Amino acid sequence: MPEPGHYLKLNWLDQEVSLFNDGGEIVVFDNLCPHRGTRFFVESHGVGAISCPYHGWSYQAGAMHVPCREKYEETELKNARLNILKSEWCADFLFVSVSPKLSLEEQLGPEFEHIASISFNISGRSDIDTYAYECNWKIAIENALEPLHVSYIHPNSLGQLDLADGKNEINPWTSVWYSPIENAGINKKLRAINKLFKIDEQYEGYMSIYMFPFTMLSSTFGYSYSLQNFFPSAEKNRTFFFSRLLKGVAKNEAAANALQHFFESSAAMNRQVFKEDHEICKRINPDFYEADRPKFLAADEEKVLHFRKLLADQVRAGD
Ligand code: FES
Ligand SMILES: [Fe+2]
Repeated sequence: MPEPGHYLKLNWLDQEVSLFNDGGEIVVFDNLCPHRGTRFFVESHGVGAISCPYHGWSYQAGAMHVPCREKYEETELKNARLNILKSEWCADFLFVSVSPKLSLEEQLGPEFEHIASISFNISGRSDIDTYAYECNWKIAIENALEPLHVSYIHPNSLGQLDLADGKNEINPWTSVWYSPIENAGINKKLRAINKLFKIDEQYEGYMSIYMFPFTMLSSTFGYSYSLQNFFPSAEKNRTFFFSRLLKGVAKNEAAANALQHFFESSAAMNRQVFKEDHEICKRINPDFYEADRPKFLAADEEKVLHFRKLLADQVRAGD
């Protein structure tokens, strides 16, 4: 949201969260007008103003503006403010929480610096894709955490890369998968476009960072990053899926033009991958999911186990 007026609206449970660029400051709030609870934004993203169509209340430059103030009691007006949520930056990434138990630095742990560095290697958004997955969010997350399905579900998309088993790094609240690309032809093509980028953070392969509980950040060669959120819904078998494709920094304008097609085809590829993931997640019987540990667990599914342990700990702690 680089410019004033840009907004993004996310859904989770039966609520919404809006992020709005208020003259350079990002305000994060529950998207509700404090007067009667009208939703300010109805689209998932765009350019606009925090301005309520019902009775004209608006928010600008950090202040709530109420028309005909004299008609209200002064004491009531003191409470006329947005319901602001907690937010914290990791470099250029903004994280939001209702009631955080940890600082962001503690939560991201050893990945904090890595994620910060990624944020400085991003020039903007090239695609946004949002829809509801017809499955529980835990099924969607676990699907995103294991590579076993890639050759079966994504034979003509992600599977084309021939991803190696690679290695997992498991941290307290994050996990990362680094996987070399074994398709020699694709590898060569990817290396060839390196000269079009000005990036100083790069894993020369496929990398995917999971941030407990709802977020994945994955990338091929650091040229673009796919940022995905899988938010629970109040309906058990529904997940609010938000995917954004973020572009790496091009060396110069000519390189940016030359890369346009690359980003467009990356966006199309990502859309296809997520559609394939959604199709298979829909097909999983939700009642099959119960135990802390899955009955069968392949060696390269350790990120799934890590997720289940974290989730079980939160449930036990009542969080
Ligand atoms: S509900 Fe928004 S101004 Fe009345
Ligand atoms: Fe997948």
